[in-house]
Amino acid sequence: MSIWQTYFTPTSAEEVLRLLAEYGTEARIIAGGTDLLLELERGVRRASVLIDISRTPGLDGIALEGDRVRLGPLVTHNRLAASPIVAEHLFPLAQAAWSVGAPAIRNRGTLGGNLVTASPSGDTIPPLMALGATLVLRSVRGERRVPIQEFFEGNRQVNMAPDEMLVEVQVPAMRPGERGVFLKLGLRRALAVSVVNVAVVVRLEDQLVTRARIAMGSVAPTVLRACEAEGALVGSPLSSERIEEAADLAARAAIPIDDIRAGAEYRREMVRTLVRRALTILAEKRERDGFPAHPPFLWGRTGGKFPYVVGKTVRHTVGGDEPIECTVNGKNYVVRGANGKTLLRMLREDLGLTGTKEGCGEGVCGTCTVWLDGIVVVSCLVPAPRAHGAQIVTIEGLARGEKLHPLQQAFIDEGAVQCGYCTPGFIMSGAKLLEEIPSPDREQILHAIAGNLCRCTGYYKVVRAIERAAKSAIP
Ligand SMILES: Cc1cc2nc3c(=O)[nH]c(=O)nc-3n(C[C@H](O)[C@H](O)[C@H](O)COP(=O)(O)OP(=O)(O)OC[C@H]3O[C@@H](n4cnc5c(N)ncnc54)[C@H](O)[C@@H]3O)c2cc1C
Ligand code: FES
Ligand code: FES
Repeated sequence: MSIWQTYFTPTSAEEVLRLLAEYGTEARIIAGGTDLLLELERGVRRASVLIDISRTPGLDGIALEGDRVRLGPLVTHNRLAASPIVAEHLFPLAQAAWSVGAPAIRNRGTLGGNLVTASPSGDTIPPLMALGATLVLRSVRGERRVPIQEFFEGNRQVNMAPDEMLVEVQVPAMRPGERGVFLKLGLRRALAVSVVNVAVVVRLEDQLVTRARIAMGSVAPTVLRACEAEGALVGSPLSSERIEEAADLAARAAIPIDDIRAGAEYRREMVRTLVRRALTILAEKRERDGFPAHPPFLWGRTGGKFPYVVGKTVRHTVGGDEPIECTVNGKNYVVRGANGKTLLRMLREDLGLTGTKEGCGEGVCGTCTVWLDGIVVVSCLVPAPRAHGAQIVTIEGLARGEKLHPLQQAFIDEGAVQCGYCTPGFIMSGAKLLEEIPSPDREQILHAIAGNLCRCTGYYKVVRAIERAAKSAIP
């Protein structure tokens, strides 16, 4: 059984609003699908009608206008992390976006999706709260602006009606004298939900703090501001005594819970640690240290934007006869009967392309990695109707006739394959890395394969295979 019944691909924002008004509580917008598909699967949310905005024009801009930055809800985490405007004017947001998941998740997951899911651990929320963002919501009834503080009403609950769409996030650009940093504590370096995350923005004039904002996630049902801690900083220099006092007040403001990732007391202690560390980093002007200068995004030459859909709104119904028309490995397909499936299942069950594997089915193992319109994605989190009109490349499409892709050959030469289950995913990530950065360094390779897990060969041989392929000519 499918987790949705009808899937719309609208071609304009107006059409999205019209569909939301028509279907009301039955409908939900889907952007990257990296939260919604799992929530529908787990019964956390219900929707029989999905409205896919991931190719709708006009919702993916990043622009500096006067003293504010305007962000479209469709801007992906990788595009936030890559944007010079975001890096210069909203630096903690760039850091937060870069900390999300792994490349394939950052290529599909959007800012709007992160905000509307309203998870207490959502990584873009603390920086946007510390920066003082405003959300613009629109429906056929009109438009309203909601300060971010008033948007979150509870765990995964937001101040947004079923017929409304988030159409823009407006953020005051950081002024001269303002500094900000985002810190995240996860249980590993990639694909880690925040155990605690913290964003701090301070304004310093003549060495004195004239304004401070501290927002912390994963410590309450919604992201919290540490107002007393902020107050303790104002009017003083960022001295170690003031920093200690603010860290202590922030820890007291947290109301964390025990869960599988951490105990409440540990979380509270980590708030103290992260706030202290963040303020110390800002005092020492070290916030930009360690932010990768040329990271791989695994989007090749696309710039991370999926092509817009044109023409009329397309509707796919589960059990209906509307075909999914797409190009896979250069060959055109017209697929019927896959409207309720994921792209992964369509590739395997309907096209017989079984090189793409299912591991976790939740976006965390990377065995199902493919290229969607030239961008690395995990196909278990892409609804098959999203492939309508798209170009897909799978592991079967990498070889040129009898000649393997240099990375496939390098995997053989380096013995980087044991059971081979993870191999297609690693190769799809690695081949895109080589297209984007022909001679990657070790760190770039590790970033590129951060979303791919192997349970037998281990990673050294995989890394060596990518290094070896980089030395040979890419056709
Ligand atoms: C493996 C994995 C790792 C992850 N790691 C992280 C992480 O490290 N940090 C983190 O914060 N998150 C993480 N996430 C969660 C997720 O990727 C992000 O929250 C992402 O930003 C969601 O965006 P999306 O476009 O995929 O949202 P979707 O799943 O498409 O939508 C999410 C919700 O937002 C609504 N929505 C989307 N856009 C709009 C809009 N414009 N207007 C109104 N409603 C809208 C949808 O109806 C839905 O309810 C991870 C997810 C996975 C699967
Ligand atoms: S990431 Fe798709 S199956 Fe694991
Ligand atoms: S080779 Fe077996 S999981 Fe990687």
